Amino acid sequence: CGIVGYIGKRDVAPLLLEGLQRLEYRGYDSAGVVITGPKATGLKMVKAKGRVRDLEARVPKRFAGTTGIAHTRWATHGAPSDENAHPHLDAENKVAVVHNGIIDNAAELRAKLIADGVTFLSETDTEVLTHLVARSTAEKLEDRVREALRHIEGTYGIAVLHADFNDRIVVARNGSPVVLGIGEKEMFVASDVAALVSHTRQVVTLDDGEMATIKADDYRTYTTEGSRTSAEPTTVEWEAESYDMGGHDTYMHKEIFEQADAVDRVLRGRIDDRFSTVHLGGLNLDAHDARKVRRVKILGCGTSYHAGMIGAQMIEELARIPADAEPASEFRYRNAVVDPDTLYVAVSQSGETYDVLAAVQELKRKGARVFGIVNVVGSAIAREADAGVYVHAGPEVCVVSTKCFTNTTVAFALLALHLGRIRDLSVSDGKRIIAGLRRLPAQIEQMLEREDEIKKLAQEFAEAKSMLFIGRVRGYPVAREASLKLKEVSYIHAEAYPASELKHGPLALIEPALPTVAIVPDDDLLEKNRAALEEIKARSGRILAVAHREQEKADHTIVVPKNEDELDPILMGIPLQLLAYHTALALGRDIDKPRNLAKSVTVE
Ligand code: G6P
Repeated sequence: CGIVGYIGKRDVAPLLLEGLQRLEYRGYDSAGVVITGPKATGLKMVKAKGRVRDLEARVPKRFAGTTGIAHTRWATHGAPSDENAHPHLDAENKVAVVHNGIIDNAAELRAKLIADGVTFLSETDTEVLTHLVARSTAEKLEDRVREALRHIEGTYGIAVLHADFNDRIVVARNGSPVVLGIGEKEMFVASDVAALVSHTRQVVTLDDGEMATIKADDYRTYTTEGSRTSAEPTTVEWEAESYDMGGHDTYMHKEIFEQADAVDRVLRGRIDDRFSTVHLGGLNLDAHDARKVRRVKILGCGTSYHAGMIGAQMIEELARIPADAEPASEFRYRNAVVDPDTLYVAVSQSGETYDVLAAVQELKRKGARVFGIVNVVGSAIAREADAGVYVHAGPEVCVVSTKCFTNTTVAFALLALHLGRIRDLSVSDGKRIIAGLRRLPAQIEQMLEREDEIKKLAQEFAEAKSMLFIGRVRGYPVAREASLKLKEVSYIHAEAYPASELKHGPLALIEPALPTVAIVPDDDLLEKNRAALEEIKARSGRILAVAHREQEKADHTIVVPKNEDELDPILMGIPLQLLAYHTALALGRDIDKPRNLAKSVTVE
């Protein structure tokens, strides 16, 4: 979900709608806006099920105000509808609340409030907050919000507007991001800097347990207990333009085509040719500590988890440390054994995914050492981790991740090289990997020149009901990610399997109607992979191979430039991003905002 708020002198509705547009990628089944102004007597609100443009269509011509808060919603409690859209108002139309997160004890609080005579207008958990604020009799709005929050168990990022205190917006954070944007005689608030950067790049990111009051010419931050906190603004690096579509029809297309530059950025300034290693300024791991690491455990969700699988493989190969990746969402619920000699690595594009954050917090509580591999600077996971590597992919707007995936795998290669060169990786292997990394941007460009060929293939695959993706060892996570990409964006069912496991089950599915995409790198497993292709061909299966040379048994081979064996997975996924994209395009899907998905899942 997304929050935006503004207080200043400008006409607020267009500003809030523009902010919502920029946040729409986070969640988008309904939206709403509430405004007021110094001369206004109350709150004016409009809500609509659907997209921000549906909301815009409902905003009346005369909808003037200079203060307001707005929201795009991704349903958790209660179906998408006008009533369930935020903001939520109390019965007297005095208090408006927008909320990201989940209130765990909402049912209980709702029952109590109903018993006290409160009428609820929606099915949402958020509405309890509205009523709790409205019922507080404290003098200051800040205290009313604080009192209300005392009853709440769960996660929130909230913004509160009150008709009787229309010179301010009060916000609070616990587990869901809130960022203040500091302007000239105007202030902004949002759940994501994306909504702010076209107005100001001076931001203050709230911590969990922190609240803030913003007024047109002033802001202050304090804890939920009321003690003041320091709130020095920092400057956002990302340019407002990097959020624009830049001549592409979709963000996904733009972001796929940004990958050569993005990889160049993650490498920049980090390679140390003298010692054939890399400098990672954000890591506080000296050689002594690095030698003590006995395992590496990588945690992430979705695409970031897949990048972590590739990372684990690279760390084992280059640093010879046992490493594996696990979905953070599973890890945090299975009471895993936390071991002091394990290095934990949390991977997240947004740095806000709740399951990853919760895993990091639990690990830290148990005294573990946690690194972050994160894209968004200053995000919750980046701040919570002991140290980390930023992936510098730039803003990623499309819900499905492409450039950030690629950059994360490169960041893992850097981490693996760094650990390897402290341990047993030789100078010559260090040199070899560095040379390979340097070749990547040009090879990505070469790969992307094949778009037309892949587009043609996609026309064929768009007819498939289901697809199988296979790979072995280095190729397996590539197959996993490619299958996720296809299903997320095209809604075609896709399944990824280790090629070695074919004969243990999936071979039963093979028939001409089920195409197989096979990842076939020119490495020591080439012959094994070729045998798998034969098995499929013998059963009249259709095969698309992604390989370093033409594969005889395949109906079509996308030939990918060869890099070093260990780095091959980084490049092999790229044509399959284009395949997913063009398949979705052929099927007329909503590419940047696939149904039911959100860019960053800040709820459990
Ligand atoms: C959501 C998105 C995925 C993403 C995952 C993890 O499910 O739809 O595209 O991979 O979250 O996000 P993160 O920001 O932690 O990388």
